Amino acid sequence: VAHDDAERLYAAAARLPNIEIRGIGCHIGSQLTDPAPFVEAAARIVALAARLEAAGIPIGHIDLGGGIGIRYRDETPQPIARFVAGALAALQGHRERLILDPGRSIVGNAGLLLTRVEYVKPGPARSFLVVDAAMNDLMRPALYDAWHAVNAVHEPSPGARPTTYDVVGPICESGDFLAKERPLVAGAGDLLAVMSAGAYGMSMSSNYNSRPRAAEVLVDGADAHLVRRREAVQDLFALDRILP
Ligand SMILES: Cc1ncc(COP(=O)(O)O)c(C=O)c1O
Repeated sequence: VAHDDAERLYAAAARLPNIEIRGIGCHIGSQLTDPAPFVEAAARIVALAARLEAAGIPIGHIDLGGGIGIRYRDETPQPIARFVAGALAALQGHRERLILDPGRSIVGNAGLLLTRVEYVKPGPARSFLVVDAAMNDLMRPALYDAWHAVNAVHEPSPGARPTTYDVVGPICESGDFLAKERPLVAGAGDLLAVMSAGAYGMSMSSNYNSRPRAAEVLVDGADAHLVRRREAVQDLFALDRILP
C-alpha cells in the first residue's frame, strides 16, 4: 500500500476484532547495489512504526524486505554488511524485531546451471548453440531478458577463435533462450555453465514442454552430493488419474 495510506489502514485494522496487528513490512525493489535507498526506506518505516506505536498500535517486527543486489555482469553491489548496518542504525533505540529477506544475495551466485551443447546451428546472420537446458530450467532470460554469464566449462585451447552465439534451448518457442550474442568456443557435446543461477533458477523452473526438471548437485569442496535427483518422465504423470 502507499506509504501515505498506511496509518489510516493500520488504524482501521486495529478496530477489527479478528485482526491482530503483528508488524510492518516493505520491499522497495530488487538488485539494489547502493544501500542508500534501502536505508532511507528503513528510516521511513521506522518513523511510521513509531507513529503507529504512539497511537497505541503495537508493531512487533519491522521487515525491510530484500533486494540486495548481486553481480550478474558488471554490477558493483556494496557488501550486505553496509545494508544491515544502515538498517540497524535506523532502528537504534527501537525494540521491534528486525527481519530481512536477503535470499538472492546469499544463494544467487552460489549456483550455476550446467548444460550440454546438443548441436551447433550456424547461420548467415546469427549462429546458435542449442543446449539441453531451456527456458523451463532457467526462466529469467525469457521472462525479463535477464543477463546471465555463460562460460565454457573446459578452457578453450590457446589461440582458439570464439564465435558469437545465441545460446538457446530445444523448446520450440522464440523466447527459449538463455543468452544472446556471446563469444564462445564450444561445439556439440561441450558443457557450458550458466552462472548466477542459484536464485530464481530451480524455484522458477517448470515442467513446461513435458520436460523433467534437472538434478540438483551440491558441491562442497571436492565433494559433490546429489541433493535432488533428476526427474523422470514418470514423475510428470505421477499425479495424473485416468477416469474409469
Ligand atoms: C517482501 C520481499 N522480500 C524479498 C524479495 C526478494 O528480493 P531479492 O531476491 O531481490 O532479494 C521480494 C521480491 O519481490 C519481496 O517482495
